[in-house]
Amino acid sequence: MILLNPGPVNVSDRVRQALLKPDICHRESEFNDLIEDIRDKLVRAFAPGGNFVPILLTGSGTAAVEAAVTSCLPPGRRILVIKNGVYSQRISAIANAHKMQNMDISFEWDQRVENEPIEVALRQNKAIQVVAVVHHETSTGMLNPVKEIGAIAKKAGRFLLVDSVSSLGGEEIDFNSYNVGLIAGSSGKCIQGFPGVGFVLVRRDLMEQMVTYEQRSVYLHLPTYYKQQEEGAIPFTPAVQLYYAFDEALNELLEEGVTNRIARYRKLARLIRNRMRAIRMKFYLREPLWSSTLTAFTLPEGVFYDHLHDLLRERGYVIYAGQAQLAESIFRVANMGALTEVNITGFLDAFEEMLPEAQKLGEERVKEMERLTGERKEKEEREKAEAEAAKKAEEEAARLAKEKALAEAEAKASGKEKDADKLSIAEGKPEVKTGA
Ligand SMILES: Cc1ncc(COP(=O)(O)O)c(C=O)c1O
Repeated sequence: MILLNPGPVNVSDRVRQALLKPDICHRESEFNDLIEDIRDKLVRAFAPGGNFVPILLTGSGTAAVEAAVTSCLPPGRRILVIKNGVYSQRISAIANAHKMQNMDISFEWDQRVENEPIEVALRQNKAIQVVAVVHHETSTGMLNPVKEIGAIAKKAGRFLLVDSVSSLGGEEIDFNSYNVGLIAGSSGKCIQGFPGVGFVLVRRDLMEQMVTYEQRSVYLHLPTYYKQQEEGAIPFTPAVQLYYAFDEALNELLEEGVTNRIARYRKLARLIRNRMRAIRMKFYLREPLWSSTLTAFTLPEGVFYDHLHDLLRERGYVIYAGQAQLAESIFRVANMGALTEVNITGFLDAFEEMLPEAQKLGEERVKEMERLTGERKEKEEREKAEAEAAKKAEEEAARLAKEKALAEAEAKASGKEKDADKLSIAEGKPEVKTGA
């Protein structure tokens, strides 16, 4: 199966084979060596300047992001979250869950983040210490302007926390010149390992400060990992075999070179975009906002995601649905992982081939939906008319009953009057006569 979802990705046989290395105990020196190797390779790949500390933990990308968010602030200081998609919403949700008094600035999901509101927020809120941003918003395929946001934060004396879960290895980023304080990544996307190992690279001086901050989490407290990993240990039981595979994936990355990998991904993305444009598929974002590894397309009128997905899956390709507010309107095609041009061309051929079938299925579904809607409307109208008739009949019955009751009361009253008259005559009371 060719995976065109943004992780888990297809891995090479070499990475898969690494899972079969010998069983080891994570408290033995072999595992310590493995940890050291991985940390060294992460630094060589992404932070060659040497002033970033890599922290490894077992967990998905969210674990790495949550560890970064919950470890980066002392009490009383705030995190500013730049929100323009599912994953930045998640940062905000994490901060909320830990009662961190985050401040959020929201932007449209299909528009570039604006500088001014960020500048204003930083000027007006002295308690903000960290600006959190997602590098590649995987929910839309938007590459956020992290370099610019980093410069704004630097001017205001703050630093960035970057969710780079779907971009490390797939997009350019220079931690120092982008003013990165912490950056979270994961094994299962552009690094082309299996999911399950998360990591955070932390600027060394910040790491030293973070050691003094109050602990918010047991499993996700970065200083706990830092202290032990600096001594060649790891605090909790790691997913040992996944670390082997991650190490092999990092070997591949370093052999290919990060710059070359980015170039390969861009080439694959171009292939997808050019062919999709040629068959008039509509892009969700404008071109300057595109990442190198994922493209979001608007679902064509009358075409449904599940049809596209199922028809492509039958042909050996997995695409991805939209999330949250975009669940019904877009589909996504990622090009991360051990993919070749042949894989992508095969996908594009399959896409073109199945599209008419998806359109036909869509038409049938639309007709069926219209038929069902018509039936439902008819039923609703019938029920409404019946209800109205029943209501009228009820009102009429009530009116008649009221009239009858009134007549009976009147009859009763006049009967009583007559009796009273009779009685007054019998008692010798003068008869009251009316009229002349
Ligand atoms: C940008 C970004 N952040 C965080 C995550 C969460 O990662 P995970 O699903 O591995 O927890 C993802 C997953 O796709 C992502 O794309």
